[in-house]
Amino acid sequence: MRHVTFVLIASLALASLMVGCMPSTDATPGDGGSDAASSLTTERKAPASRDGIRHANGAVATDSKPASEAGVEILKAGGNAVDAAIATALTLSVTRPYSCGIGGGGFMLIFVEQTGESRALDYRETCPSRVGPNYYANLPTPASGYDPSLYGGRAVGIPGQLPGMIAAYEAFGTLPLEVLVAPAIRAARAGFAVDANYLAAVEKVRSLRKSHPDLRPTSRWVWDNLCRRGVIEVGDIIRQPKLAEYLERFGREGIAAWSGPDGIAALLTGVDRAFDGVLRPRDIEDYKVVWREPLVVKNVFGDYDALLMPPPSSGGIAIAQVLAMMEHRLPSAGDPLPGTAAYSHLMTESMRHAFADRARHLADADFVDVPVDRLLDRGLIEAAADRIRFDGVLATDSCGVIEGGSPDVLEDEGTSHFSVIDSNGMTVACTQTINGTFGSLLAVPEIGVILNNEMNDFTTIPGESNLFGLKQSDRNLPQSGKRPLSSMSPTILLQDGRTSVTAGGSGGPRIITGTLQVLLAVIHGEETARAAVEASRLHHQWKPDILRLEAGLLGLRPELEATGHVVEETGGVGVVQAIVVHEDGLEPASDPRKGGSAAGW
Ligand code: GLY
Repeated sequence: MRHVTFVLIASLALASLMVGCMPSTDATPGDGGSDAASSLTTERKAPASRDGIRHANGAVATDSKPASEAGVEILKAGGNAVDAAIATALTLSVTRPYSCGIGGGGFMLIFVEQTGESRALDYRETCPSRVGPNYYANLPTPASGYDPSLYGGRAVGIPGQLPGMIAAYEAFGTLPLEVLVAPAIRAARAGFAVDANYLAAVEKVRSLRKSHPDLRPTSRWVWDNLCRRGVIEVGDIIRQPKLAEYLERFGREGIAAWSGPDGIAALLTGVDRAFDGVLRPRDIEDYKVVWREPLVVKNVFGDYDALLMPPPSSGGIAIAQVLAMMEHRLPSAGDPLPGTAAYSHLMTESMRHAFADRARHLADADFVDVPVDRLLDRGLIEAAADRIRFDGVLATDSCGVIEGGSPDVLEDEGTSHFSVIDSNGMTVACTQTINGTFGSLLAVPEIGVILNNEMNDFTTIPGESNLFGLKQSDRNLPQSGKRPLSSMSPTILLQDGRTSVTAGGSGGPRIITGTLQVLLAVIHGEETARAAVEASRLHHQWKPDILRLEAGLLGLRPELEATGHVVEETGGVGVVQAIVVHEDGLEPASDPRKGGSAAGW
């Protein structure tokens, strides 16, 4: 990465290992927390260097090989990073149909290095016009007890994917739309090979159909066509001829193929209504993308400027808060490195602060007041960081940069992040979602499109957790036209006005913690994007009050438990794609946790 030197261990371990179990407690107000990681290990061996392949002209990192190759094909054809992003996004709709697609939405963060311009495109799903704050509280429970905000027509938000592609194209695209759509059409018509991650998604559908027989009609098209009724193995080829036909039409007609008088609004809402939904054609026709100002946080860890996604993303604010807390407290803790107990404890406590704020204050700022300035106020963030101590953990209720007023606040395959950088340094960080695995399980058979279940990202029943176990405030209640709070966190770090690293991820709230840890690994001098992405990670989301460690960090468990954390092992903390700009080229990295593969030229 540009101008970054590898940070060596600056100090010896400060003291002996933990003796005895420390109580769960807050720092005394005003005591500034304990000044050093006096009882936690701060030293570790330097990480093994892992090679990362460099590219001179452009790079694309996705969680699906054909989608990375689609982006590079467009870059080679003379397209810019946004052209490549559109081709990549549409190909992901084909090859990761359980993660993202035309029936969903997303966020795209764009940085134009040549002019310094940055923009944030919000094409997230919105609440249908006939859904209000009490909609879910008043619904009868389905026979098998599933949550109607998760499956079937009532789970579906108004999709924004194709309006988003067109908005990005009109603002920045250079090649004909038909050229950008071509790789996705090929992948849909010729097919793509099933991998292990795809099979895991099929297993989720199988298990849901078993536990909830009333979801069998809902999921029939997905089960018959994309899951092959469960008779499917790695290497099988999935073809989607209806989706190919529809993508061809989109390439010819643009947005008219979606929301024009002869578009698919009636078709889509017909499916939704047949399965108890309330979408109306006008919901599709009236949908609007929103161009937003990215959050810009200057001088992060000295010489980075961070471009982050604003609300309705919660990720931008949370990542900015944790980075600032880490920067503020690491020196007083003896500069422990990633992978040590002291570093992990400080990061966990910082995450608890950030997720408490997320739960209490964040929602769609176009509909409710979100105190963005206070949440990003450096003094308030540092004061919260000062409350962190190294001989115990904060009490749950005292977490948060803005304390107080706590509402009482699970994991996914339904999101996909990719990053692109072109030869001019133009950078796109894009995260797209249909929320859960295969979204609502509903499809529009005539065009082969899966409908999202993004409504579950709202606070559907006040006080109850969503799919990801996140509790959220009444600010995030559904309302016509409102966007549900998101964890999607497309991020770009600049140095001297040029992209240094871009990252983002999938995995519900683990998007935030996964992306954050990859960024921190790069900031702390991890030599390659690949090593930063592959390093073991941890996750804490304030509530439930559990620190989750990937297997590679389990050696820290005794120390972290002794400090007061409740620790559990977890299979994975997000799936992160990143590109690091080195002096000798662009290095894209796709997360092995989802079996992705990056490309470049
Ligand atoms: N559906 C995942 C998110 O937006 O956070």
